[in-house]
Amino acid sequence: MDIKTIGVIGAGTMGHGIAQVFAQSGFEVLLVDRTLDLALKGKNQIQKKIDKSVAKGTLSQEQVDSILNHISVFEYLGSLQQAQFIIEAAFESLGVKMAILRKLDQISPPETIFASNTSTLPITKLAAFTNRGDRFIGMHFMNPPPVMKLVEVIRGFLTSDETVKQTLSLCQRLGKIPVEVNDYPGFISNRILMPMINEAIFAYMEGVGTKEGIDTVMKLGMNHPMGPLELADFIGLDVCLSILEILFKELGDPKYRPCPLLRKMVQAGQLGRKTKKGFYDY
Ligand code: CAA
Repeated sequence: MDIKTIGVIGAGTMGHGIAQVFAQSGFEVLLVDRTLDLALKGKNQIQKKIDKSVAKGTLSQEQVDSILNHISVFEYLGSLQQAQFIIEAAFESLGVKMAILRKLDQISPPETIFASNTSTLPITKLAAFTNRGDRFIGMHFMNPPPVMKLVEVIRGFLTSDETVKQTLSLCQRLGKIPVEVNDYPGFISNRILMPMINEAIFAYMEGVGTKEGIDTVMKLGMNHPMGPLELADFIGLDVCLSILEILFKELGDPKYRPCPLLRKMVQAGQLGRKTKKGFYDY
């Protein structure tokens, strides 16, 4: 199948970033959210980011116009009929994803491949909401998708070799580096990243160092672009907590126990950059 048209469900941080990545590589992108306003908001975010690239001289105005012309926005899943490959990047909740996938499965042509950008939910469980387990796969982009090279490609229990092949080939066309992963909680990325972030929060809570001290050690000592507390704010503390909860529950090992300080901050609504307050003020 020659994939030319991509559907993206969810125009939030990950969804609009993924839409931008595909549009930049010349795909037609159909971007859907619950309302047209939300879908448009996602497209406006893309415009804001790529307009900056014109100012910096890394993209021409013609390239920006072409990227935007490749993205159409909609509010109905039914608008994705033409898409040959659909990526679900909706809110990270099993219930929300179940409703979307069940409906999408009913209205999409049988040959359409579905991918989920979930960061932790089992691909096999999501695939079971559809009748296309062989054409269902995990495609986990990293934040921010236009910048980060990696895509985790997660094979569910029923995913066919052909679906894996198509997905790896898409990654190549996007200039991304795919890594194949089996369907385990947190895949590779969050299985390793989240315990590090959690440990940094424990270290902060116990007074091992200041937040700046902890972040500086990891930035200058380990060459990480962001310290773990700054990165937690960037990802969203609610997202970090929910990933840790899943690791803790599914793997049953106390080493994944979410730090009480993380839990308290989420309860208090301090979620990081998106609420302008987390470990740091924004
Ligand atoms: N969208 C598009 N482009 C962006 C962007 C965004 N959201 N944020 C930054 N950029 C671009 C900038 O325009 C800039 O481009 P040019 O080089 O063409 O000028 C470039 O990226 C560098 O950006 P900045 O100069 O503004 O800032 P920086 O050098 O500090 O880099 C960063 C910002 C890329 C986010 C960097 O700090 C970084 O790599 N941080 C770590 C990010 C990370 O670990 N992500 C993974 C999170 S975990 C995850 O996603 C998985 C999960 O399931 C939770």
